[in-house]
Amino acid sequence: MLSDSIVVLTGAGISAESGLRTFRDNNGLWEQHRVEEVATPEAFESNPERVYRFYNDRRAQLAEPAIQPNPAHLALAELEKACSGEFLLVTQNVDDLHQRAGTRNIIPMHGQLRQARCLRSGEVTEIVTDLDASNRCDCCQPPAPMRPNIVWFGEIPLQMDRIQQALCQADLFIAIGTSGQVYPAAGFAALAAECGAHTVELNLEKTGGTFEQGFYGKATEVVPDFINRLLGGADVG
Ligand code: NAD
Ligand code: APR
Repeated sequence: MLSDSIVVLTGAGISAESGLRTFRDNNGLWEQHRVEEVATPEAFESNPERVYRFYNDRRAQLAEPAIQPNPAHLALAELEKACSGEFLLVTQNVDDLHQRAGTRNIIPMHGQLRQARCLRSGEVTEIVTDLDASNRCDCCQPPAPMRPNIVWFGEIPLQMDRIQQALCQADLFIAIGTSGQVYPAAGFAALAAECGAHTVELNLEKTGGTFEQGFYGKATEVVPDFINRLLGGADVG
C-alpha cells in the first residue's frame, strides 16, 4: 500500500544499464582493481595518487553524456512521489543517478563521487573535476588536503542511525541490484523483516539473501514493472 513506510536499498546493479560497471559481476570493477589498493584507508595512506586516480576515472565517467538515469531510477522517483507514507532510498552507489532521476529522500551510505572531504575538518564540498594531493580545502587555515568523500572498506557508512530507525519502522523493504556481499547493507533485509516489513528482492539473479518475494531480470524491466503494479494498487505480500 502506498500509505506504507517504504525503504529501498540499491546497489551497483541498478546503474549497470546506465553504463556504470558493477563490482562483482563479469568485468566488474574488482576484476581490474584490488580493493586493498583503491578502496581502503590504508591504500590512501600508502599510495594516494592511485586512489585519487581510481575515483577521478569513475567521476569523469559520470560526466559523460551517455551516462543517464535509467527507467529503474526514474520509477523509484515516481514511487517516492506517490508514497503518502515515509519513503527512504538508501544507496550503496556513489554515482548521482538517483539524485538526477529526482528522488529526494536519499542516504548515499558509501558517500558520493562528486564530493571531497577535508582531511582535517571532515567538511564535505562538491567537486566535479579531478581531485589530487595538490587540492586544498577552503574551510581551514592553513588549507588542508582533501580525500574522496567515499566510505572505504573498514570505515563506517554514513547515517547508520537514521537507516536502522527507518528499517525498524518499514512496512515494505525493497533491495535492488545488490549482491548482498558487504555489511552492514547486507543485513538490512533481515533487520527489516525482524521488525515486520514485507521484503522484496529485484535483481538480475537471486542472491543469498532471504526475501519473501523476488522478481528477477534486468532492473530497467523488473523495477518499473513492480512499481507500476504497486502504483496500480496491487497489494504486496
Ligand atoms: P566487509 O567485510 O563488510 O565486506 C566483505 C565483502 O566486501 C566481501 O564479501 C567482498 O565482497 C568485499 N570485499 C572485502 N574485501 C575485499 C577484497 N579485498 N576484494 C574484493 N572484495 C572484497 O568489508 P569491511 O572491510 O568490513 O567494510 C565494511 C565497511 O566498508 C562497510 O561500512 C561498507 O559500507 C564499507 N565499504 C565501502 C566500500 C566503497 O567502496 N564505498 C566498499 C566496501 C565496503
Ligand atoms: N539489473 C539488475 N541487477 C543487476 C544488473 C541489472 N542490469 N546487473 C547486475 N545486477 C546485479 C548483480 O546480479 C549483482 O547481484 O547487481 C548486483 C551487483 O552486485 P555488486 O557488484 O556486488 O555491487 P553491490 O552489491 O552494489 O556492492 C556493494 O561493495 O565494493 C563495495 O562499495 C562497493 O557499494 C559497493 C558494495
